[in-house]
Amino acid sequence: MCGIIGFTGKLEAQDILLDGLEKLEYRGYDSAGIAYFKENKGKISTRKTAGKVKDLRAICDDNESTCGIGHTRWATHGGVTNANAHPHKCGNVALIHNGIIENYHELVSSYDLGKDLISETDTEVAAALFNKLYDGENPIEAIKKAVPLFKGSFAFCIMFKNKPGIIYAVRNVSPMVAATCEEGSFIASDLTAFIQYSKKYFIVPEYTILTMTESGITLTDLDGTNVEPEFLEVNWDITAAQKDGYPTFMLKEINEQPDAITRTITPRIADGLPDFSADNIPDSLFENCRDITIVACGTAMYAGMVGKSLMQEMLGIPVTVAIASEFRYEHPVITEDSLVIVVSQSGETIDTLEALRLAKTRTQKTLAIVNVKGSTIARESNYVLYTHAGPEIAVASTKAYTVQTAAFYLIACKLGLIQDKISKDEAHEFIGNLQNVSNNITEVLKLSENVERLTKRMLNASNTFFIGRGIDYTLSMEGALKLKEISYIHAEAYAAGELKHGTIALISEGVPVIALATQSHVYSKVISNIREVKARGAYVILLSMDENITDSSICDTFISLPKVPDRFAIFEAVIILQMIAYFTSVGKGLNADQPRNLAKSVTVE
Ligand code: F6R
Repeated sequence: MCGIIGFTGKLEAQDILLDGLEKLEYRGYDSAGIAYFKENKGKISTRKTAGKVKDLRAICDDNESTCGIGHTRWATHGGVTNANAHPHKCGNVALIHNGIIENYHELVSSYDLGKDLISETDTEVAAALFNKLYDGENPIEAIKKAVPLFKGSFAFCIMFKNKPGIIYAVRNVSPMVAATCEEGSFIASDLTAFIQYSKKYFIVPEYTILTMTESGITLTDLDGTNVEPEFLEVNWDITAAQKDGYPTFMLKEINEQPDAITRTITPRIADGLPDFSADNIPDSLFENCRDITIVACGTAMYAGMVGKSLMQEMLGIPVTVAIASEFRYEHPVITEDSLVIVVSQSGETIDTLEALRLAKTRTQKTLAIVNVKGSTIARESNYVLYTHAGPEIAVASTKAYTVQTAAFYLIACKLGLIQDKISKDEAHEFIGNLQNVSNNITEVLKLSENVERLTKRMLNASNTFFIGRGIDYTLSMEGALKLKEISYIHAEAYAAGELKHGTIALISEGVPVIALATQSHVYSKVISNIREVKARGAYVILLSMDENITDSSICDTFISLPKVPDRFAIFEAVIILQMIAYFTSVGKGLNADQPRNLAKSVTVE
């Protein structure tokens, strides 16, 4: 969480920092700030404020520096105040930070830093420590001394007052990428902040000190040895990270799903069958695999639940889904024959990363489904299957979910073939259906006006329920999460058959219930459950492929999904759920892209 950017070069820094921060705002938007060398001399000025980057822009008037750093905050230590906003200055030092310094209390007492502090943040303690250890001559020596003292995660960009034009940077866990080009040197939490200047970049290696000047970046490790960065190149450009005529990123990303799925599955299909050879994933990964554990957070975990439902049915082996933040503490049963699949859009979610690290101590069969190329989870996993959703900027995940789910369909089919659980003919048919998903979604997207109309009914709701059975239940969880996070309406997902064991007491006149009935083997049972809530006054919005169930004893609003084999219905249904959440949020006048209290990339435990 938190977005950071630094620039030193030939251009005015302020515009680059503010524009970059706007692109990083999805990482946190509680407060924002910049620091720069005033008139490129040995004085550091700061501008910072609680609020968003637009509020910061309003107080920035000083275009007279070509070197500066900027930060957009997701508050961890200390409330949302001007004083707690970054950059933090102390003596000779100004810095920005992404991460958490866990031992900041001890550092304050061990190094007697208390008198230097005016904020409640862990970050200011780091600024005070760098300042204390700085001899006025050699910033790198101060960084070398300070870095081993920090416990926790950090990405720092640091300026020293008497070193105008230079930015120093160092990180552990929290992500940072950097680039040099004609215009100067850039560093940021994420490439989107500077991709318009350079498509070639490198991931800042952990515990390596960067010295950035107008003419380039040098890297040294903590022993002083030079380090050569490994350059990568992105295959998308700035337009992929812009709204492209849509009012919001979320709506754009919902509409991008057909293309994102096609991009993700096509390179993994050869002669109509799943083929991961271009990903360097050997068949041996799937041989002798006796059980599967899927670990992830939030929406990525719900994609994993779809994966579980599918794989357990197709393969007949135990598949477990674990919440990443619980996984390490619940004594997971992982053996060397277990396949552990971690799922993450950002590839930086710390709980998922730590779960992966634990899993690797038990099995070498770890596979990451990740969207962001070169991210930490992708690098640390034994194998990686990149989804090709392109940058996902809206905080609420949409296209990442469908491509993660599509990746599970490919994996399930591959496992089924390798473990002789399905025939080649069945696999061909399965993959054919998967290839049709993009076109089916395109059809569903045409229903957006109908969905927008029906959400008028949701705007005043304070409680809603999402119900379904089997794979529809896994989807209900995703639908409820999406509605909660961007519309602030309480939403609960329930296995439809479980309602009568307690929750049905909450159903009263007019409570919206979004019901999913796409699975024929539990169809009559789920319809009975829907009747039960309808009989108690619920306002039922029903999603199904069966057009014969529109009668008013079952539902108030019916959304007809294109007919597809049951297993593939979730791709269509989730689009409707995403749109219900989106239009409810917009209908309530909320910012669907940046819901309160949230950030896109969750790099704190
Ligand atoms: C919800 C959402 C989150 C993320 C979760 C995991 O819309 O976006 O629940 O899915 O924080 O993030 P990644 O996939 O980056 O690990």
